[in-house]
Formats: sequence, C-alpha cells, structure tokens
Amino acid sequence: MGKSAESIATLDDIDDLARLAIEAGETTWRAETFYPACRGDSRERAFVVRTNNEIVAYCVMALEVDECSLYSIAVKPSHRRRGLAQSLFSTGALWARETGKMRCLLEVRVSNTGAIRLYEKLGFIRDGIRKNYYPTQTSEREDALLMSLDLENQ
Ligand SMILES: CC(C)(COP(=O)(O)OP(=O)(O)OC[C@H]1O[C@@H](n2cnc3c(N)ncnc32)[C@H](O)[C@@H]1OP(=O)(O)O)[C@@H](O)C(=O)NCCC(=O)NCCS
Repeated sequence: MGKSAESIATLDDIDDLARLAIEAGETTWRAETFYPACRGDSRERAFVVRTNNEIVAYCVMALEVDECSLYSIAVKPSHRRRGLAQSLFSTGALWARETGKMRCLLEVRVSNTGAIRLYEKLGFIRDGIRKNYYPTQTSEREDALLMSLDLENQ
C-alpha cells in the first residue's frame, strides 16, 4: 500500500468521488451532489485521502448558520478500519471550529451500525429519531438517527 495524504477535493475529483460513493453504498451521492463542495465554495468542503493518486476516502462537511453538518463520509472497502474516516472527520471538524462553529450535526440510517459506532467513537451523542426519512430498495422507508457533537473540546 502506498503513502496516503489528505487534501481538499477540487472539480477535477468529482467523478472519482461519485465512483467511490457508489462503491461505498452512499446511493444518494452523485457527481452533481459533490459539486458545491468541489468548486471552492466557502460553505462546503470535501476532504479526501489519496493513495497512489487514487481517492480512497472522503468526508463532505458544510457550514450552517450556527453549526456544521457532516453530509457524507465514505471509505473504499479495502481501506476501512485504518482510521481514515476518523482522521478526515478531525480535519473537517478543525476547519469548522476555525470558522467559529462549535457543534456538528449529522443523520444516519438506523441500520448503519458501523457508521454509528464510528460517530460514537468520535464523541457524537444520539439526539433523536426522524421517522421514515430515508428511501430503501423496497416501498418501506427507514428512520434516521440524529446525532450531534460538541466541537468545543475536540
Ligand atoms: C463508516 C465508514 C466511513 C468508516 O470508515 P473507516 O475508515 O473504516 O473508519 P475508521 O477506521 O476511522 O474507524 C474508527 C473507529 O470507528 C468504529 N468503526 C468504524 N467502522 C466500523 C464498523 N464497520 N463496525 C464497527 N465499528 C466501526 C471503530 O471503533 C473504529 O475503530 P477501530 O477500527 O480501532 O475499532 C466506512 O465503513 C464506510 O465507508 N461505510 C460506507 C459508507 C457509510 O456508511 N457512510 C456513513 C453514512 S452516514
């Protein structure tokens, strides 16, 4: 495995990001969804890890009025459980803190136990449930777990 380095994604990265999102099962993330984070928007950023010039992990974060949101995070299956998600989130949280945001919010499918474990390890707490928030492969919908993290002590 080659050397990994973190950077901020640009418009040249959009197709690679969309491919990784599909591979990681982030089905609502398409090339156009990554556009605001990659065009140098001051409000939204995609932090990425590259290994041998390939994007193997990303974390998209956005600045809201009073807080920031973790929009999407994904790691290539072959590169999981090496701390890449944890490290990318820390970079994003630092950016948000530097702009004065002291809280981070996210929502996650209640069935996504791996991601929920990651968020709890990062210090997120469970705030509530949004019923029937996500579409599924069937006509059923799935609940979202709402979580938040105080960035003050990060
Ligand atoms: C969730 C995801 C981003 C985690 O990426 P990762 O780089 O493997 O995570 P890290 O290595 O930084 O994990 C840090 C810690 O989080 C927890 N964790 C991460 N993935 C986990 C899993 N699948 N099961 C249980 N705990 C997990 C562990 O405590 C882990 O520490 P450990 O490996 O020392 O036990 C990755 O599995 C992924 O891309 N999943 C598909 C996309 C997705 O579900 N994104 C979230 C949508 S809201």
